[in-house]
Amino acid sequence: MPQQTIPSVFVTGGAGFIGSALIRLLVTEGKYHVVNIDKLTYAGNLESLASVSKLPNYSFHQTDICDRATLDQLFAKYSPVGTIHLAAESHVDRSIHGPGDFIQTNINGTFTLLEAARAHWMSLDGEKKSGFRFHHVSTDEVFGSLGDSGLFTEENAYQPNSPYSASKAASDHLVRAWHHTYGLPTIMTNCSNNYGPYQFPEKLIPLMIHNAVSGKPLPIYGRGDNVRDWLYVDDHARALSLVFEHSSVGETWNIGGNNEKTNLEVVDTLCQLLDRHRPRTDGLSYAVQKTNVADRPGHDKRYAIDATKIQRELGWQPLETFETGLEKTVRWYLDNPEWVAHVVSGEYRNWMARNYTDRNGVQL
Ligand code: NAD
Ligand code: TYD
Repeated sequence: MPQQTIPSVFVTGGAGFIGSALIRLLVTEGKYHVVNIDKLTYAGNLESLASVSKLPNYSFHQTDICDRATLDQLFAKYSPVGTIHLAAESHVDRSIHGPGDFIQTNINGTFTLLEAARAHWMSLDGEKKSGFRFHHVSTDEVFGSLGDSGLFTEENAYQPNSPYSASKAASDHLVRAWHHTYGLPTIMTNCSNNYGPYQFPEKLIPLMIHNAVSGKPLPIYGRGDNVRDWLYVDDHARALSLVFEHSSVGETWNIGGNNEKTNLEVVDTLCQLLDRHRPRTDGLSYAVQKTNVADRPGHDKRYAIDATKIQRELGWQPLETFETGLEKTVRWYLDNPEWVAHVVSGEYRNWMARNYTDRNGVQL
């Protein structure tokens, strides 16, 4: 049974990279009973939640956000005060090679979750109804690509370029429409590129660390001069918690760390950190493993976030600089090779079977 003394909150996609960081934060803070709703795709890994999963204010349900009937049961069971929605297909390269799952989860899944949340919200009254929040977690990639100057603000027009960003943009529009049309109390955040521990090693930073120490090439798309604005994942999690608690209904918030780097700068910094912490046995720099490969089709040139609004109105500031955050990240991956080995081998699904049962004691 859920703990009755504290309110429940749903986090979808809580076994993923950012969702697990948010759950580790929320469960540790202890203000909510956190209900993790995650389908456990290849990107979902319950090992990332091992530090909090035995705590009484945490529950997990292996559920697809496209499954309306189960969502209805969960809303009835927990009567959450809100839903923080992170479940998504999230990798641009995968969206180029197979967009179907992105349409299904990011668009149809968000639609299904909105409808289940709306039905729940409609059944409430008084403070429970006015206090309910549907917090949609999105990306700056919905705004498209910047030239050499300028920053994305909350007022930016949407111009998504990849199947991933188009599917996220569609979900943002659904959320906005559900507020405008039905009055569902939604809030939205659009964040820049995250990095940190527990990120699946298909994204730039963990892929480069993994490939470097495995003696594999470091594949740099095109000339490596595309720019991303990097934010340490725990800084994003703190921002999400702050927005969920304090945002007024219908607001959108940009989140970013003001850390614009070209991909080459990122890879060179990673090589320097690895040269220091885990030098190659032949004395050469990991930089010798850099390899230019064909560019990503439709590769967005530059993303950069203007985070003035959340800084000014909610007092949020990132705690990590790019240098401190990247150092922590490299050290984490070097200290946790088994986490990476499990996610690339599929062993973590066996780990899950050994360590997790559902609420009826049945092995997951
Ligand atoms: P991730 O790929 O690491 O995790 C996604 C999680 O969602 C996984 O645990 C997966 O099992 C789950 N999931 C996928 N399909 C599902 C479904 N149909 N039903 C239930 N669960 C499902 O992603 P992430 O990097 O943690 O990103 C989380 C959210 O933040 C996404 O919505 C993404 O668009 C957004 N975002 C990510 C970044 C970034 O840099 N990673 C930046 C800004 C915004
Ligand atoms: P990625 O981590 O996939 O995030 P996103 O595409 O959502 O920004 O990629 C970050 C940048 O790194 C992007 O410009 C593509 C580039 N990149 C490479 O050059 N090589 C790689 O192997 C990967 C995965 C990404």
